[in-house]
Amino acid sequence: MKLFDVYPLYDVTPVSANGIVVTDDKGQDYLDFYGGHAVISIGHSHPHYLNRLKDQLDQIGFYSNSIKNPLQEELAEKLGQLSGCPDYNLFMCNSGAEANENALKMASFETGKSRVIAFTNSFHGRTSAAVAATDNPKINAPINQQQKVTFLSFEDTEAFKKEIEKGDVCAVILEAIQGVGGLDEPSTQFYQTIAQLCKEHHTILIADEVQSGFGRSGKFFAFQHHGIQPDIISIAKGMGNGFPVAGVLIHESIKASYGMLGTTFGGNHLACAATLAVLEVLENEDLLENAVVLGKYFAEKAKAIPQVKRVKGHGLMLGLEFDFEVADLRKRLIFNQHMFTGGAKDKFVLRFLPALNVTQEHLDIFFKALKAELV
Ligand SMILES: Cc1ncc(COP(=O)(O)O)c(C=O)c1O
Repeated sequence: MKLFDVYPLYDVTPVSANGIVVTDDKGQDYLDFYGGHAVISIGHSHPHYLNRLKDQLDQIGFYSNSIKNPLQEELAEKLGQLSGCPDYNLFMCNSGAEANENALKMASFETGKSRVIAFTNSFHGRTSAAVAATDNPKINAPINQQQKVTFLSFEDTEAFKKEIEKGDVCAVILEAIQGVGGLDEPSTQFYQTIAQLCKEHHTILIADEVQSGFGRSGKFFAFQHHGIQPDIISIAKGMGNGFPVAGVLIHESIKASYGMLGTTFGGNHLACAATLAVLEVLENEDLLENAVVLGKYFAEKAKAIPQVKRVKGHGLMLGLEFDFEVADLRKRLIFNQHMFTGGAKDKFVLRFLPALNVTQEHLDIFFKALKAELV
């Protein structure tokens, strides 16, 4: 059997990783400024993370969601406390798309409506309703196109008002800072206006924090930069530092009933141990503060480079906009400078998504390498 060939691959084969360094099968080290697509939040092979997972594996790795799992309760408690969202309830699942799928489904259950408003350049995953709310026709098959989704531009308050006033919108879904799209974000005023309009029209506001959550933007959730309170928050990626785990935080005003949501693997013992380890490291090592400080340092260094047109994002969810397409630059950074960075749907944006315990020295190495590739 061969692999279903859907990924264009770089010719690098990592075999081990530690902190911010990934080592390939030839013994070459690479600096990981991409975090495997914003997944590595506390660094590769963090000792606390490894110990917690190994200990859990020695006890119990998995059992069904029809028995008690106190780790899920411990996790919900800790997550509520650290995220500043104690008045939400947690449902655990396995991937970002699944988190958004459940979020959209809950919005539809709760309101009895079915149309969704999403935004230009959004990315919410590749499954049914999540991909339909993703602004990319190429990855929407005819079966996905049956969903009712209206795409609007950030800052177009008039169009938003016109659509939501029709009364059939169950959910507005947004990334507080767009990830795959290329780090765009609207103003606080726009966020606050749409949050208010959602309330007035019995529409659920979903913050997709799959990429921007767990401290990446310097706050636990990126929507917290704008003083809004979504009804539902979806989480994944950095949550497990590489262990596949995701979840939905559902405001306690939305009531659960048996069977409404469900999953075989979601919230298993190993997934909880991985997430608890991430939360403990974020807290003990003050990594949100590190994200804020280094985000500012990154912006200062970047602004001194003439080819950089704009620095985008917050904390360590960052992008550099150039006036040329960055695909070739990314390749040269990998093969000449041995460092991973990310691309975006906006081909002029280079994404920088390192683990939140990256250091100033690592950033200095990155900028030295970048300058060498820009001459
Ligand atoms: C904002 C956002 N939502 C959802 C997803 C989908 O997550 P997953 O690939 O885990 O299904 C992604 C993945 O890149 C994402 O960036």
